[in-house]
Amino acid sequence: MEKKLINIIAILLLGYLFVSATIDLDNLFNYANQDFPDYITEDNTDGNAIDDRTATLGRVLFYDKNLSSDGTISCASCHIQAHAFSDPNIQSVGVNGLTGRHSMRLVNPRFSHEEHFFWDERAATLENQTTQPIQDHIEMGFSGTNGDATLADLIDHLESLDYYNTLFEFSFGDTEITENRMQLALAQFIRSMQSFDSRFDEGLAQVDHTGVPFPNFTPQENMGKSLFINTPFEGAGCADCHIPPEFSITVNSQNNGVIGVAGMPGEVDLTNTRAPTLRDLVNPNGDLNSPLMHDGSFTSLLQVVNHYNAIPDHPENTNLDSRLTDFNGDPQQLNLTDEQKLALVAFLETLTGSDIYTNEKWSDPFDPDGSITIIGGTLGISEGSVNPFISITPNPVRDMARIETNLGLLKIQIYDASGKLLHFKEADSRTNVDFSARASGLYFVKIETTEGESFTKKILKASY
Ligand code: HEC
Ligand code: HEC
Repeated sequence: MEKKLINIIAILLLGYLFVSATIDLDNLFNYANQDFPDYITEDNTDGNAIDDRTATLGRVLFYDKNLSSDGTISCASCHIQAHAFSDPNIQSVGVNGLTGRHSMRLVNPRFSHEEHFFWDERAATLENQTTQPIQDHIEMGFSGTNGDATLADLIDHLESLDYYNTLFEFSFGDTEITENRMQLALAQFIRSMQSFDSRFDEGLAQVDHTGVPFPNFTPQENMGKSLFINTPFEGAGCADCHIPPEFSITVNSQNNGVIGVAGMPGEVDLTNTRAPTLRDLVNPNGDLNSPLMHDGSFTSLLQVVNHYNAIPDHPENTNLDSRLTDFNGDPQQLNLTDEQKLALVAFLETLTGSDIYTNEKWSDPFDPDGSITIIGGTLGISEGSVNPFISITPNPVRDMARIETNLGLLKIQIYDASGKLLHFKEADSRTNVDFSARASGLYFVKIETTEGESFTKKILKASY
């Protein structure tokens, strides 16, 4: 009896794992038509409207370690869902060392007033931003300099992966991979990351105006809201730059007096004029998702408030925003009381939702071993027929290659580059082939299906 129960649990668990790591092209998540509140009016979509197919491709690219030169880093290594797509570390680990700035939360990027991206706004659009980390020597290593491979090398590699043949054809009509298509897909996925289920949203929906007390707020939270919105003397002036209800940074901000450089004490960086939305600074438990500011120098919201309460006077800071100076041009001193500071903190904590942390549509579609399963999708010339789909992952392979197909599998034969048969086995539609003892280089996998067709695919045994 007990054993039976354990078996049932094990089967359910396996079923869950299987489902969670499968992309079903016939049942896509809703990325394109998500609801968001009427009072959200900013939108930087421009010409790249979200499409469920292309955003699904973007999800796979976002989580794929094949996008880094040594196969260890994906976008999600530094943008972690459980941390509102930021990194709890001050500096993130890339393929060639640590990033020079702190990773940014990816929350509501679509709904931001400032349409340039990165802390210093060097990316003109989100599309333009998305392939920069790939071409960064430190982050993902396809820079084409310092002995790095180029983006063209990466594209060649991605074109050898069956699941990208399937996914690019599914979203763009053919299997060609270009930088532009990668940008469109990644940007759509990132624009789909939205968070509007906070207590702030509940309150605003009830009263329709940020300027009146919210019925669902405590007196302290309402006090914090007034301080956030009202300009200095009456309040703290935060809304001048972090504009509600998006809480995205204004387009014309200069720096806010935080001028340090992560990992380099004494160095100065005056160029950081963008912040992600102030939504989801803390997680649903009230813990900070990651350290704050471009240098990750603040580890609590009270430190943030203390900073704005008395902006440090750095004579070398020639780029401090004038909204943060007094009549003499000196850095502002708000003289907030402790009660007011804590009220501001309490208000900032009301800007947190919960869906973004756990919704499967933004989660990792890969199995822990790096393989991915794609099912469904009626593609191809003959309408109604099943699109033959064969996936061999990972490719390049180090030890185990996983072979999966939506056709009935019959025989698998492995040949070396000279055409010599090395290995033969009968199998069903999911099977593993061990490459651990084989020399590095190119191999051919010939697959015969129960329908009597055969397919030959290339696989590379990695040299590392
Ligand atoms: C090694 C860590 C790392 C990797 C990998 C990484 N990022 Fe980032 N990301 C960062 C850091 C650090 C910043 C801030 C950098 C700066 O401003 O100079 C950032 C900023 C961003 C921003 C700007 C957000 C904003 O509001 O301005 C976006 C969007 C983004 N990353 C998307 C991606 C995508 C897409 C990928 C994968 C192709 C990726 N990142 C890979 C660390 C990483
Ligand atoms: C003059 C415009 C301006 C004003 C006013 C302003 N900020 Fe900022 N804020 C910024 C800029 C620019 C950044 C990014 C700074 C950086 O990292 O170097 C930022 C960053 C932040 C961050 C960190 C965001 C993150 O993701 O790490 C928080 C939190 C914050 N501000 C809260 C506030 C609060 C609270 C107030 C009011 C007391 C306020 N800000 C007033 C411009 C402003």
